[in-house]
Amino acid sequence: MNTEQERQAVRDWIAQAARIAVLTGAGMSAESGVPTFRDATSGHWAQFNPQDMASERGFRAAPARVWDWYAHRRQGVAAVQPNAGHLALAAFAQRHPGRLTVITQNVDGLHQRAGSTGVLCLHGDLMADRWLDTPRACCRLEAALPGSPPRCAACGNLVRPGVVWFGENLPAGVIEAAQQAAQDCELMLVVGTAGAVYPAAGLAHQARQAGARVAVINPAASELDSVAHAVLRGTAAQLLPQLLGEPCPHGAATPSGETA
Ligand code: OAD
Repeated sequence: MNTEQERQAVRDWIAQAARIAVLTGAGMSAESGVPTFRDATSGHWAQFNPQDMASERGFRAAPARVWDWYAHRRQGVAAVQPNAGHLALAAFAQRHPGRLTVITQNVDGLHQRAGSTGVLCLHGDLMADRWLDTPRACCRLEAALPGSPPRCAACGNLVRPGVVWFGENLPAGVIEAAQQAAQDCELMLVVGTAGAVYPAAGLAHQARQAGARVAVINPAASELDSVAHAVLRGTAAQLLPQLLGEPCPHGAATPSGETA
């Protein structure tokens, strides 16, 4: 298949699928200006060792350094906007209630800010705080002493970002719901992920094994290309609006074959 045939095939799969799961990664937000992790020059992990910045051990070793890095990332995310890819996913779900489930590894909240609901956030929420250790009766987040990181005035328990670090479990119930969506879908779109981190990447294998079509959207090679029936080389903000169709004010057929 050539590129246009492959795109048309994915549009047809979208039009036909009663249930679509979309697995997104950092590339989904790249065009909003959020850095990815594994880009060789601009990715976070080109600058930092993930064990230093994304593990409990790293946080306990240098809490201020890690907290400040997340504070910087929070500021970066607060200053950017969802891109055309996020908006296309949210608009499609609004036009087709119950057909599309977004499963994201991203912690930036941009799917939700674009209007997507029911987003399954596998790796937590960059903007959320939680206690490092099990909170005692004295620990109230709203009463944490300011500092870097904030701490409980009474017992010293540290506040940490509500993201999933290496070696930690995914939020309760979320991976189960994502596995269910992967199992039940007829089509999985895998957008902007290197496919290097499990269990998230395993969802694409699971969908394929359960009989779903799988399409990868990524400008570069990924570890999930071999799982896919179609690999579209392009970016999320370029391709998702083309594939999912734009809401059309005049009721004409949209690119995905629907009538708006
Ligand atoms: P990576 O940084 O590993 O991969 C980003 C992917 O996005 C790469 O395959 C790029 O080619 C692709 N990409 C770049 N720009 C794009 C664009 N405009 N449109 C579409 N794709 C684009 O990010 P993830 O796969 O999300 O975990 O990484 C998975 C996890 O590893 C993250 O959630 C994070 C990290 O360590 C935690 O923090 C727990």
